[in-house]
Formats: sequence, structure tokens, C-alpha cells
Amino acid sequence: MLRQYQLKMPGTVYSGEGSMEKITEVCRGHRKAAVFTDQGVCRAGLADLPVTLLKKAGLEVELLDDLPAEPDCGQAQKTVERFRETGADFIAAVGGGSVMDAAKLASVSAPKGCTVRELLADPMQAKKQTKTLMIPTTAGTGSEATPNSIVAVPEQETKAGIVNPEMLPDAVILDGIMIKELPQKIAASTGIDALAHALECYTSRKANPFSNLFAMEALKLIFENLLPACRDPEAIEAKNKMLLAAFYGGVSITASGTTAVHGLAYPLGGRYHIAHGIANAVMLLPVMRFNRETCQKEFARIYDALGGKPAADAEEKSWRLLERLETLLRALEIPADLKDFGVGREDLEDLVWAGMEEQRLLGNNKRRVTAEDARNLYLEVLT
Ligand SMILES: NC(=O)c1ccc[n+]([C@@H]2O[C@H](COP(=O)([O-])OP(=O)(O)OC[C@H]3O[C@@H](n4cnc5c(N)ncnc54)[C@H](O)[C@@H]3O)[C@@H](O)[C@H]2O)c1
Ligand SMILES: [Zn+2]
Repeated sequence: MLRQYQLKMPGTVYSGEGSMEKITEVCRGHRKAAVFTDQGVCRAGLADLPVTLLKKAGLEVELLDDLPAEPDCGQAQKTVERFRETGADFIAAVGGGSVMDAAKLASVSAPKGCTVRELLADPMQAKKQTKTLMIPTTAGTGSEATPNSIVAVPEQETKAGIVNPEMLPDAVILDGIMIKELPQKIAASTGIDALAHALECYTSRKANPFSNLFAMEALKLIFENLLPACRDPEAIEAKNKMLLAAFYGGVSITASGTTAVHGLAYPLGGRYHIAHGIANAVMLLPVMRFNRETCQKEFARIYDALGGKPAADAEEKSWRLLERLETLLRALEIPADLKDFGVGREDLEDLVWAGMEEQRLLGNNKRRVTAEDARNLYLEVLT
């Protein structure tokens, strides 16, 4: 465990039913809002309420609704430039991780500032220029809790994180109504992404008392609420709890760091454009099986916290936790391999090469991951 650690959080977080109304309070004193969102979120009608409330509060509103999912640096740069043209002095991001991450980049890049490429090269040069409000519509990435923005880097065929505390949101609203109609498949894979954040951070070399607190709470909430939140549009309490869990997962990323699940999943997103949630969901079980022996104590603690039945010792508990994880993934119909995504055995060596480039995250994994290990882990999901 780290000897020194710190906790950084967004400015103010509003949570629970009806918290969307807080928009009028958060935007007070501002003139014009740029509402970042995307087509899927707009089609679901989720931009309507924030826009109405911002207008009611007297702000002029401009909608930036054509953001692509999981943008690369060029696409993110275009969004930043579009934002500059709006002349807005307030940003409201209404969407999943893709939308929130793009909004964060805009918040440190206007009215004049560095380009996305410059930020990739040196993230710390950025300064917050525009106040941000994040309203997640997936539960989720936890991006609303982190100082990170993830972009695809086409020439490296992977994704990279731009990390700077200046990108921590000023305000966050977690309201279950925003994920009420979230399609089941997206709810399942993004929920497993949140679970991966918590499990990886709890077992990370960077784990510490702050990250453990939030990661463990996220795990309890996810194991209890993910299935009902996915299956029942009316399960608003479960959805509110999933939004909390995703937020806690984000806090644990900020305080600790993800490990080999995210490390080996990044090339699946960067090279094969598999959605972030799905890429992590596919890699989660193989990597956690690989980590079991090294992380036995942590797995056993999680098993106990989830109210697992008495078991002989830490080893048995760690196996049982893996069984619970597998049962949950099956119930959510998470794919166990990559055959439906156009990735085959012929891609193995490219994946190993790109995966081993992710040393920032692989280095957080308690069990060392060699190229041979990465090859075996990818082979498990390439049938
Ligand atoms: N910044 C961070 O800390 C952090 C952490 C993890 C992941 N990420 C990044 O976040 C991105 C993924 O974000 P995501 O998993 O939230 O997905 P996403 O934002 O890419 O959205 C996925 C799809 O779901 C649709 N959608 C979102 N909310 C909806 C709703 N309520 N109803 C109907 N459709 C909806 C979107 O339109 C989109 O088509 C990736 O780029 C990933 O790398 C960032
Ligand atoms: Zn993730």
C-alpha cells in the first residue's frame, strides 16, 4: 500500500431523485451554456430537461450534440474548436464518458489554450477556463469524478489518458432519471466497467485507505443493484445507487489507479473500436483469475463485505468471489470472448504488442504481467 496518498474530488455533488433541479443553482451568474451531448442521448430525450432548466435560469443555450462516441484526438480537437466558437462561459455535459471527457478538454482549452495533442504530450500545462457541470447518463465510467479524459490515439492504435486535476468537474448531478431508459446492453457493460474500476483499484499497487473506502462501497452497491437497474426501467432506487457506485468507482480511480483489465482492454478500443465497457467486461474475468493468487487477501475481504457465506479460508473465499463475478457476468449476458467483434487469433501478436505498451496501468497490477502472460490472457478471449 502507498505510504502517501491523496483524495481529490469534484466541487459539489448532488445526488438522488429530483437533483436535476439543482441545475438552476449551479449555473447562477453565468451568461451562456454550451450543452455537450451526443445523438444517442438526444434521441433518448435526455438533453431536454437540462436545456429547459438552463433557459429557465436565464442562460442562452447552445447544444453541441454531434460528439462521436469514444473520440480520437482529432475528433476531440474539433469539438474543442466548436466550443470556442460558442463563446459560452458555462459547460454542461449530459452524456456518458465520451461526452464528459470531451467537455473536460474543452473546459481547459478555451478561450485560448493548448490543443488536445499538446495536452497529450504535457497534460499539466492546462488551466481550467470554463466552469463545468457533469450529468452522467451511463453508470458508468465515473468520469464525472475524475481528472481524466481518454482519447484514442490512431497512430498508436490504442487509447490514452490526459490527466490533470484542473479537469475535475466543478459540479456533478447524479439523478437516476437520466439512466431510466438506458438500453440494457449499455447499462450492463457500463455497469461492469464501474465494477472493474472498483475491483482493479482495490487490488492495485496504488490502493490506499481513500481508494479502498470508495472501491469497496462501489463493489457492494454494484453487486446488489446492477441486475435490477439493468432489467427494470422503474427501479429508480437501484439506478440511483448505480450512479453512486459509478461515481465512487471514479473516486477510487482518482485516488488509486486501474490495472491490467483496463491496460489490456485499451488496445481493443483503440485498434478494434470495441466499446470501452465491453472491452473491459470481456477482459475482467480472465485478468481477475490471473490475479487471484496474488490478491487473495483483497478478494477474501471483498467476499466477506458482500455477505458471502462462511468459507474455510482466504483461498476459498477468493475462489468464491470469482464464482460470484462469473455468475453476474453470465446473468448480464456479457460476451466471454471477442468472436463477435471481428477479432481473431491472427490479431494476437498485435494485441500483445499494444497491450504491453500500457505500462502505466500494467505497472499497477500486483502480479507482474509479462508478454507471455498477456498472450495467454488474450488467448482466453480469442476462441
Ligand atoms: N475520464 C474517465 O475517468 C473515464 C473512465 C472510464 C472510461 N472513460 C471513457 O469513457 C468513454 C465511454 O463512455 P461510456 O461507457 O459512458 O459510453 P459512451 O459515452 O461512449 O456512450 C455509449 C453509447 O450510449 C449512448 N447513451 C449514453 N447514455 C444513454 C442513455 N441514458 N440512454 C440511451 N443511450 C445512451 C450514447 O449515445 C452512446 O451511443 C470511453 O472513451 C472511455 O475511455 C473515461
Ligand atoms: Zn473504465
